[in-house]
Amino acid sequence: MNRPSILVFLVLVTFATKAIDSKPPRTQSPGTVEAYVPDLGAMMDSIQLHHAKLWFAGKAGNWELSAYELNEIRENFAVVVQYRDQIIKEKQIAAIVDTIMVEPIAQVEHAVSAKDHASFEKAFDDLTTTCNSCHRAAGYPFISDPASERSARNESAFW
Ligand code: HEC
Repeated sequence: MNRPSILVFLVLVTFATKAIDSKPPRTQSPGTVEAYVPDLGAMMDSIQLHHAKLWFAGKAGNWELSAYELNEIRENFAVVVQYRDQIIKEKQIAAIVDTIMVEPIAQVEHAVSAKDHASFEKAFDDLTTTCNSCHRAAGYPFISDPASERSARNESAFW
C-alpha cells in the first residue's frame, strides 16, 4: 500500500468505527416483541412432572429430593400467580392456584421433614385430591379421573 492508500484506509476505518459506536446500545428493547406469558397448561405439565418425582422420591425415602421437588411445585404455582393477569384463559383459576395449595403442600412438607412414610403417603394423596378438585371445578373433569384418584401416585389420575 502506498502512502495515500494507507491514509484513505485509516480514514475509512475511523469512520467505520464511529458508525459502529453511534449505533444504539444492544440492550435497547426492539419494542415489537411481545412479552412472554407462560401457558397455564404448560405450567401444569411441569407441575405434574415434579408431582411424580415427589412421589417416587418420597417412596424411596430420598427426603432431600422430595423437599426439592415439593419446592419446585411451590415455585411453579408462584409463577402461575405472578402471571395471573396476563394468562388469557383461566385468569381466575390462576389467581387462586396457590391459595388452595398452601395447606396440602404444608402437610407434605411436614411429612417430608419428619421423614415419615405413612404421613407422606396420606399428605401426597390429599395434595393430589386438591389438584383434581380444582380440575373438576374449573371444568376439566377429564384431567382428573375420580376412579383412579388414589392411583395418582402412578400419575394415571392426570394422563
Ligand atoms: C386452582 C386450580 C388448579 C390446581 C390447584 C391445579 N390445577 Fe392443574 N390445571 C388447572 C387448569 C385450569 C388446567 C387446564 C389449563 C389449560 O389447559 O389452559 C389444568 C391442567 C392440568 C394438567 C393438564 C396439562 C396439559 O396440557 O396436558 C395437568 C397434568 C395438571 N393440571 C396437573 C396438576 C397437578 C399435578 C396439580 C397439583 C399438584 C394441579 N394440576 C393443580 C387448574 C389447577
